[in-house]
Amino acid sequence: MPTLMVNIDHIATIREARGTPYPDPVHAVAIVEMAGASGIIVHLREDRRHIKDRDVRILREVIKTKLNLEMAATAEMVKIAGEIKPDMVTLVPEKREELTTEGGLDVVTHTGKLKKSIERLHEKGIGVSLFVDPEKTQIIASHKLLADMIEIHTGAYSDAKTEKTKDEELKKIIIAAKTGKELGLKVNAGHGLHYFNIREIASIPEIDEFSIGHSIIARALFVGLDRAIRDMVALIEPGEPK
Ligand code: PXP
Repeated sequence: MPTLMVNIDHIATIREARGTPYPDPVHAVAIVEMAGASGIIVHLREDRRHIKDRDVRILREVIKTKLNLEMAATAEMVKIAGEIKPDMVTLVPEKREELTTEGGLDVVTHTGKLKKSIERLHEKGIGVSLFVDPEKTQIIASHKLLADMIEIHTGAYSDAKTEKTKDEELKKIIIAAKTGKELGLKVNAGHGLHYFNIREIASIPEIDEFSIGHSIIARALFVGLDRAIRDMVALIEPGEPK
């Protein structure tokens, strides 16, 4: 059964909007875990625009399920991950001016840099996922680099303005998920997924785990975090939502 990892970056975004000590992303841990998520994701960006080093350190101590640290493949971040030892790392591309992670990693072009980061993380016993667009070449390259997992970028599917584009993007994700599974990779997916576009993606049997943040934190404003997570967990379970 697919599982849900909740990205809590945007709790820190609200904190940083005012520079207050609240809301503290650490306070979300118990609620996220008790509501049925399989773990927590934070993106420690190079510019520290939301999640801070302190958050990751405390989260590591408090989280009982799984901590997925999203980060760029830089020497600084690999060092931090080696010290903090998250349960897994997702390597993502990072541009300072972007609003959120915009595209997948170009694994084909940046082989050397990624290989070095993956090796260092493996030496520390940390499993590595590569965030890639739903393209066969990128997935084959990820497998060659000995990544343990891929996370398929669902942004183009989520942003599709027409049903035709949405169907085309969905097909790409289906093929990408099958390719990943055939190569023996764990297959995750995420970006831009929300309560009204998750069902079709959730019916792809090869996807093991979903990484969802913005829509859950947004819904939590109105219904609370516990309910927002339970609603999403119900939608990613196979069969009709209860
Ligand atoms: N996966 C990756 C690699 C991301 O960078 C993000 C955004 O931080 C997400 C998933 C979650 O995306 P969203 O907040 O749109 O659910």
